[in-house]
Amino acid sequence: MSGEEVIVAESLTIMYDGYEAVKDLTFRLNRGETLLLLGPNGAGKTTLLKVLAGFHTEYRGKILVFGKPPVEVRDRVAYVPQTFSLNSRVPLTVLDVVSMGGIYKSGLLHFNIPREVIERALEILDFLGLKNLANKPFRELSGGQKQRVIIARALMSNPELLLLDEPLSALDPKARIDATSALSKIKEEMGITMVITTHDVNPLIEIGDKVMLIDKRLVAFGTPEEVLRDEIIGSVYGPASRTVKVGERLYCIIGDVHLRVR
Ligand SMILES: Nc1ncnc2c1ncn2[C@@H]1O[C@H](COP(=O)(O)OP(=O)(O)O)[C@@H](O)[C@H]1O
Ligand SMILES: [Mg+2]
Repeated sequence: MSGEEVIVAESLTIMYDGYEAVKDLTFRLNRGETLLLLGPNGAGKTTLLKVLAGFHTEYRGKILVFGKPPVEVRDRVAYVPQTFSLNSRVPLTVLDVVSMGGIYKSGLLHFNIPREVIERALEILDFLGLKNLANKPFRELSGGQKQRVIIARALMSNPELLLLDEPLSALDPKARIDATSALSKIKEEMGITMVITTHDVNPLIEIGDKVMLIDKRLVAFGTPEEVLRDEIIGSVYGPASRTVKVGERLYCIIGDVHLRVR
């Protein structure tokens, strides 16, 4: 790991028509690191991802991605939105869906997918253990399979920074494990820098090098051990929130109902 800074944010405030949705964020992320972006609904997680992706530009303060304003480095960044919709009347196969991620940028139409794009798509599907699904209609997949296929599609542009918005939120526990394994493999074997938003940090703790807790403003930024402490998560999620250590593994108990806690 070179220690090169992929993201530098200083006093970043993000607006929608003048309304300040996220205020005064300062943080840095190094190449190869994974940042878990944690916060309750409406905290500004998606808003920050959209700025990093170069899709939202109403902000003040400093935000640099690879040393440049995000709009200038869009081709080095891939963004996986929270909800992905495909026209389900079009019977695209998994291979079509993944290949499309490699042809949007070169401006080609999908009925004319070049051979090298198809080969690359098969390679990525194989890397994520999905090759056996290549010829299946995308619409017939389970939610967890779809999520991994969408991640595969995002890898087609060879991104150096991968932004994922709540990639586990719609998945059942088994599918969460599969998606987390896929993300872990991308981190370990491809070395891609990632920012992953989540409202449940637990399934992802082990792949997080850094955790940032926001609630319209920065609450805490640091290693999981530094941020996931009772007093810090309690300040956002209420005094019933706890972190528990089981062996070396940290768990966060938030959003639980404890009627008798004072
Ligand atoms: N397109 C938009 N126009 C105006 N306000 C928005 C828009 N998108 C989000 N917001 C507001 O910005 C704040 C942060 O939203 P968001 O980034 O979606 O939070 P999160 O992803 O953490 O749930 C919320 O108050 C939300 O209402
Ligand atoms: Mg969101």
